[in-house]
Amino acid sequence: MAIITVNKLVKIYESNKLEVQALRGIDLSVERGEFTAIAGPSGSGKTTLLNLIGGLDYPTSGTLTVAGKELNGMSARELSDMRLNNIGFIFQAYNLIPVLTALENVEYILLLQGVDKKKRRKRSVRILKEVGLAKEINRRPKELSGGQQQRVAVARAIVSEPELVLADEPTANLDQKTGAGLLDLMHNLNHKKNITFIFSTHDRMVMDYAERLISLTDGAIVSDQGKKSSQES
Ligand SMILES: Nc1ncnc2c1ncn2[C@@H]1O[C@H](COP(=O)(O)OP(=O)(O)OP(=O)(O)O)[C@@H](O)[C@H]1O
Ligand SMILES: [Mg+2]
Repeated sequence: MAIITVNKLVKIYESNKLEVQALRGIDLSVERGEFTAIAGPSGSGKTTLLNLIGGLDYPTSGTLTVAGKELNGMSARELSDMRLNNIGFIFQAYNLIPVLTALENVEYILLLQGVDKKKRRKRSVRILKEVGLAKEINRRPKELSGGQQQRVAVARAIVSEPELVLADEPTANLDQKTGAGLLDLMHNLNHKKNITFIFSTHDRMVMDYAERLISLTDGAIVSDQGKKSSQES
């Protein structure tokens, strides 16, 4: 079953009366459990597409169905509930809360979801161990390396066991080896928990690592390789 269905998706930004066509009619379907990269040059529309799939912005036209929910016509409140309950986000700049420890950053998502304190702690500690940060749970972001901060961000994205994780250039600020380690970690979680991962990238190594590679140019899909057939999934 498709976890994402996108039809004729168009996004036009307007700034100072200038129109930018960021997406020009994207059709896309992603099956549950896929490990998919979106590649393309700077300005090709990768972030725009991920933001629309994640309900962080509204399309100009076209339809989006994510995790069985039709996003068109949802209110800001409904979109925010959907983001909280169905989707994990990982950003290029980690976006951790600086005054909170690694553990508190992860727990925060569960707090928003109304999970009780004992469960919050238990699940957050377990997930931080899973991403290899058992010893770092009480450190604040500035006391962690970039790779460690990004692993906290991965832990935060998956602690609520979302069906879908969207990652915008998750390895862009990491060296090659740390980036490869992060991809291994995401791939393991993809296999073990059947979480669907979609990540954007500029990096050839990351593209090669993906099971499916979608290339964007100028707001359109120009190639789509390695898609699992529906029989396989
Ligand atoms: N808020 C905005 N207002 C106006 N134009 C925007 C806005 N956000 C993006 N754009 C434009 O939309 C197009 C697509 O941008 P987008 O950020 O999706 O590209 P990208 O593929 O993620 O690029 P990068 O690899 O540099 O992150 C670009 O031409 C960009 O300038
Ligand atoms: Mg981008």
